[in-house]
Amino acid sequence: MSKIVRYVSFLLLLLTSDWLKSQQFIQLNPPDLTRGRATMQALSLRASATQFDTTMLSLQDLSDVLWAANGINRPASGKRTSPSAMNAQDIDIYTFIRSGVYLYNPQKHALELVVNNDFRRVFLRDEKSPLPPVILLLVSDISRFRTQDDSLKMMWGAMDAGIVSENISVFCASENLATRPRASMNQKKLRELLNLKDSQYLMLNHPVSYKKNIGN
Ligand SMILES: Cc1cc2nc3c(=O)[nH]c(=O)nc-3n(C[C@H](O)[C@H](O)[C@H](O)COP(=O)(O)O)c2cc1C
Repeated sequence: MSKIVRYVSFLLLLLTSDWLKSQQFIQLNPPDLTRGRATMQALSLRASATQFDTTMLSLQDLSDVLWAANGINRPASGKRTSPSAMNAQDIDIYTFIRSGVYLYNPQKHALELVVNNDFRRVFLRDEKSPLPPVILLLVSDISRFRTQDDSLKMMWGAMDAGIVSENISVFCASENLATRPRASMNQKKLRELLNLKDSQYLMLNHPVSYKKNIGN
């Protein structure tokens, strides 16, 4: 390889991997509304993955899975790709990647740093299992519901998380990505790590990766 080609490749690598470094704020790409399989094809392929690749998702893929999950699709009203009971918009998405834990800000379509460092392993029971590049944690803040009935709030929060979860699963099926909704997780450690309020409930987590060539 000539020196110039090596230099250009290095520069390209720097430019494309820049968003991966620990940053306070990651501006996501606008959603690509032209991508993806037809809905019925995606539904025919939807399945919970058992294996995950370790390659980091591209910025576009990460941007689009977050937008599909719970992005703003009607800017005039601020309403989302996922419905929520009473339009409480109670589901927050904490995004665990190698460089840290980020909170998805739908208004800015951006990720905001919550905690530095890699905490993806908190989700895995087996110390040695390979780390999926992205884990999305769906948290409902039930204080956003304008009702006094706590059991109703919990039910609505769980339902809202389920809908966000299905948006993730269908987007992944439509784009050949691997994901799995998981209720099991170390609630205590995660609550401490994210410094959650009593009204915030960890509902589901979704590892997301490219599909492994074999075994899915
Ligand atoms: C609410 C909910 C919680 C789940 N929790 C877990 C979990 O903790 N661990 C896990 O491996 N799978 C979990 N799953 C995935 C299910 O096991 C999976 O959806 C089921 O086996 C059916 O497989 P399918 O999604 O491929 O159709 C969960 C699914 C749902 C809907």
